[in-house]
Amino acid sequence: MNIFEQYESNVRSYCRKFTAVFDRAKGSELFSVDGKRYIDFFAGAGAMNYGHNNPYIKKALLEFFESDKVVHALDMHTAEKARFIELFEDKILKPRELEYKIMCCGPTGANGVEAALKLARKNTGRVNVIAFSGAFHGMSLGALSCTSGLESREGASLPLNNVTFMPYPVGSGADFDTLKYLEAVLSDDHSGIDKPAAIICETTQAEGGINTAPTEWLIGLEALCRRHGIVLIVDDIQVGCGRTGSFFSFERAGIKPDMVILSKSIGGYGLPMSLLLINPALDIFAPAEHNGTFRGFQAAFTAAAAAIEFRESYDFDGETVRKGKLVADFIEKSILPLDSRLSMRGIGLVWGIDCSAIPELDTVSVVKEAFANGLILELAGRKDCVLKIMPPLVIEDELLLEGLEILKKAIEKKLKK
Ligand SMILES: Cc1ncc(COP(=O)(O)O)c(C=O)c1O
Repeated sequence: MNIFEQYESNVRSYCRKFTAVFDRAKGSELFSVDGKRYIDFFAGAGAMNYGHNNPYIKKALLEFFESDKVVHALDMHTAEKARFIELFEDKILKPRELEYKIMCCGPTGANGVEAALKLARKNTGRVNVIAFSGAFHGMSLGALSCTSGLESREGASLPLNNVTFMPYPVGSGADFDTLKYLEAVLSDDHSGIDKPAAIICETTQAEGGINTAPTEWLIGLEALCRRHGIVLIVDDIQVGCGRTGSFFSFERAGIKPDMVILSKSIGGYGLPMSLLLINPALDIFAPAEHNGTFRGFQAAFTAAAAAIEFRESYDFDGETVRKGKLVADFIEKSILPLDSRLSMRGIGLVWGIDCSAIPELDTVSVVKEAFANGLILELAGRKDCVLKIMPPLVIEDELLLEGLEILKKAIEKKLKK
């Protein structure tokens, strides 16, 4: 028994699949203490879009630490936060004609979700929220109430109320027009469903199995929210910050959600940070009404500002889309032919290989085989049937193809079993 098994809680999870003791990481590679190299197709669950120890961001951080700057500042004013806000306004919001108040939340994605739910309820005076099948919004109670997976929900050990789930347009198994149904429900005083304060939505469900909502559907969802006075919350925690080929995942639909939650890669370097972007008209929290000690990790603001500069320094989004095409091409030409029951889907640089039609293929064993051969990737979707390819966005083509080759061989081997 190792020190982790002996002393760490049973709740630990990723380490059960990725059993190495990790030491160093650079770009899209991790190295274990015994010197073994792993290609990263996991990207810290979406926190490492800019790569491990990104040199541009590291330089800014080293300067920050060298200068004995205030590291912890709650929500007090600092030059680092000012610099981040300035860049976020100038480079991210203004060019997209987006106007939001920026709320710094406690440092997890789930805390941003909690803030969004509270604020939507406070604004509307309504309690119910609509979420979607396949959704993942985090593990704290409010966020968990909007998370669909029954295994995750069981951990709450109490009823998770005040959320109504509707089928997501992709992956729910229901051949069903959710928008039409929602329209009927919201217009019917006998629908039995309370008018919601908010609809919370991922434009691509990553944990849910790489399910991407059609652009037209997102446009329709926004229009429905406007018609019925419902707050539209987009959870961009995992697929924001460039993952889908644009900074915000909803840009392809041209919509303007009332609230947007960012976390994971917004902290640039894997540093904890979470933001809620708020339509200014909804910015009605009283001072301290969603407080938290760690809302001002100045190193994260420093890294986040450097990350924006970094993404502005070349065609970052174009490169993401190009690499996404490399992945899609490889899957189509080299992996799908392994078995006609395999299918693929994705957007930007997050792709899934769906193995659900092959019940005898044990996807966990594919992940373990890939890991044994130096590749880290995770599973997603119902019954963990989707192999999820989500490398850092800065990954080099050679590494990307090397990782895909390892994955192909792992699938091939496990299909033969
Ligand atoms: C879409 C989405 N929302 C919320 C969360 C929760 O974020 P955190 O784990 O930082 O609380 C996650 C985490 O995977 C996520 O992918």
